[in-house]
Amino acid sequence: MAIRGVEIDIRGLAHRYTPKNPLTFEDVNIQASPGESLVIIGRSGCGKSTLLHIIAGLLDGYSGTLKLDKEDVKKPSSRWVMMFQAPHLFPWMTVEHNVGVGLHFAGWPKEKIRERVAETIHLVHMEEYARNNTQDLSGGQQQRVALARSLVMEPEILLLDEPFSALDAFTRAALQKDVRSISKKLGINLVMVTHDIDEAVLMADRTLVMAGSPGKIMHDLMVDLPDPRNREDQVVQDKRAHLMQIFQDAVNGALSGDSIAEKYDGAMSEANLAGIT
Ligand SMILES: Nc1ncnc2c1ncn2[C@@H]1O[C@H](COP(=O)(O)OP(=O)(O)OP(=O)(O)O)[C@@H](O)[C@H]1O
Ligand SMILES: [Mg+2]
Repeated sequence: MAIRGVEIDIRGLAHRYTPKNPLTFEDVNIQASPGESLVIIGRSGCGKSTLLHIIAGLLDGYSGTLKLDKEDVKKPSSRWVMMFQAPHLFPWMTVEHNVGVGLHFAGWPKEKIRERVAETIHLVHMEEYARNNTQDLSGGQQQRVALARSLVMEPEILLLDEPFSALDAFTRAALQKDVRSISKKLGINLVMVTHDIDEAVLMADRTLVMAGSPGKIMHDLMVDLPDPRNREDQVVQDKRAHLMQIFQDAVNGALSGDSIAEKYDGAMSEANLAGIT
């Protein structure tokens, strides 16, 4: 696998929207290797989207350091692109035109655009619909086009803010699998926010559990499972139970960011998991 992703190094990050607002989150530390997939889970309002926007260079007002590929991030870049819950496509344009629009504005020659767009549409399995208008596509197909539009710029980090939450279970499962396998094939980092514990286990190399107000990262759980992952696999079920327990303790305030690592590291054996539903 070629690695196109970058090192993520976030230290002591804290944020507030205005001096009059309370802290959105504080003391956020995240280190990730090139190509690693991070999934952030946490209750509504703990600052997950704000954190993603900061990583994407779309928001400032923070203290601490945020380095991607060893450089401070101060503004948006095509190296780290964000995908949202709604696909935000141009409905009157075809799939091809939607996917190529960024390259067009970047001044790429037509022939190069055509090639790159065709490759990317192939990657997301949308060849059959390349000439269709996006308004005639299903929600899942539209999200595939949005994914292609993000990938066509050859990003090194793909930031995803609950991208599948409006989709039905089958479409969602197919996209979860495809996005993980595409990210591994391209060797890019994923940083994804979700409320769905299953999704976290199916897509992450590591899951970060956020909780509290201001938000904090309460736990960092390795999800070292082989691919492809299926919801019904016992190892997936076990990891899900483990993560659910950590998540519940974190949101119930039963654990602080300091004590939670002590409680679970080493203590959470497979035997312990048997009793958790
Ligand atoms: N533009 C803004 N100005 C002031 N406060 C904001 C702004 N946007 C968000 N907030 C507040 O910051 C906090 C974190 O918001 P954020 O959207 O990051 O949470 P979240 O974890 O993504 O929530 P959800 O799971 O509901 O999407 C919330 O209390 C929210 O009300
Ligand atoms: Mg959010």
